[in-house]
Amino acid sequence: MIPEFSFEFPTVIEFGNGVSKNIMNAVNKEGAKKVLIVTDPNLREIGMTKAIEEILAENGIEFVVYSDIQQNPLFSQVDAAGNLARDEGCEMVIAIGGGGPMDAGKGAGVIATNGGSIQDYMYMRGDDMKIPENKFLPTVCIPTTSGTGSEVSDCIVITDSNANKDLMLTVDIAPDYAFVDPELTFGVPRHITQNTGLDVLGHAIEAIVANLESQIADLFGYEAIRMVFKYLPAAVEGDKTAREYMSLASMYAGIAESKNGCVIPHAVSCPLSVHHKVAHGLGVGLAQVANIEFIKDEVPEKFEAIMEHLGVEYEPGKAADKLIEMIHQLFHDIGVDERVDIGPVTEEMIKSFAVDASRQIDIEGSPRQPVELSDLEDVFRKILVM
Ligand SMILES: [Fe+2]
Repeated sequence: MIPEFSFEFPTVIEFGNGVSKNIMNAVNKEGAKKVLIVTDPNLREIGMTKAIEEILAENGIEFVVYSDIQQNPLFSQVDAAGNLARDEGCEMVIAIGGGGPMDAGKGAGVIATNGGSIQDYMYMRGDDMKIPENKFLPTVCIPTTSGTGSEVSDCIVITDSNANKDLMLTVDIAPDYAFVDPELTFGVPRHITQNTGLDVLGHAIEAIVANLESQIADLFGYEAIRMVFKYLPAAVEGDKTAREYMSLASMYAGIAESKNGCVIPHAVSCPLSVHHKVAHGLGVGLAQVANIEFIKDEVPEKFEAIMEHLGVEYEPGKAADKLIEMIHQLFHDIGVDERVDIGPVTEEMIKSFAVDASRQIDIEGSPRQPVELSDLEDVFRKILVM
């Protein structure tokens, strides 16, 4: 029996080379006269926001820029951006960048109209979590990497001052507009293309196996997996057509993970990312094989469906093993080691990483339950240079 599901998708998408120059379509539709641009300092410095700033100026739209966003944005940065939007009377947020600036921009839209701190609205607050009362500022996302899918997702991930990641999850926080312009990714360095591409693969696989199920979201996941295997190696080498397809794959996988959630690899990536600066997508990618080993007997039909959508032949009962084989080959083809070296690793560190990972919402999405601390410790042992 197909489980019941619903599918709500509020984001208007424009996709294609150069579409970020159509930004006035969104600004005019909202009737905004002043906007807040949210980005990170590096992107501002290399001029990634310049074209948008010029288009706004040419059309008589005032803007202020908040660019103090780090890779894992902090509550304080989201609050500062939101307060700036309110104090300056901005009527719209335009977020330009990777997942950090896009999540921060989406969060700023909440604070601009609701006040307080974004921390008040986050999942980890449990029973103390507040529900925002006012409609958020309209938000536009313009991704400059192909990884997070934040331009189409119903969530934001923000980090507290103790380096714990937390999230806000509501369809109301999905951007109103996404301008997905692959040209913006053509200059992205090789290592970022590797890491963000692995994040796309993770979103797609994890969304399909997660125990939240939307058949529509799964469709986006299948197609994203196909595109990652086909195009990521060439995208890493700088091929522009392949990078266009990775922009599409990232968006598709973002839709899939936004609706179905993620599982163990996203939880495992958290402590590595916040404490050891392992790129989010790399941590996610490294944990895929260990996760598939952990769940393959629980949901064999999910792996069969993936293989059937990919059109890849597999021995009966061995669909998950075939996917593992393909992932090993992908790591080889994109030139990424399947273990990451964070320096000397002690058993205490492994235990502490497992406790951190166990607190992430992604654990609840795992189709195999319970997920014990020892299971998570095993994943860390498999992906770290010990
Ligand atoms: Fe991710």
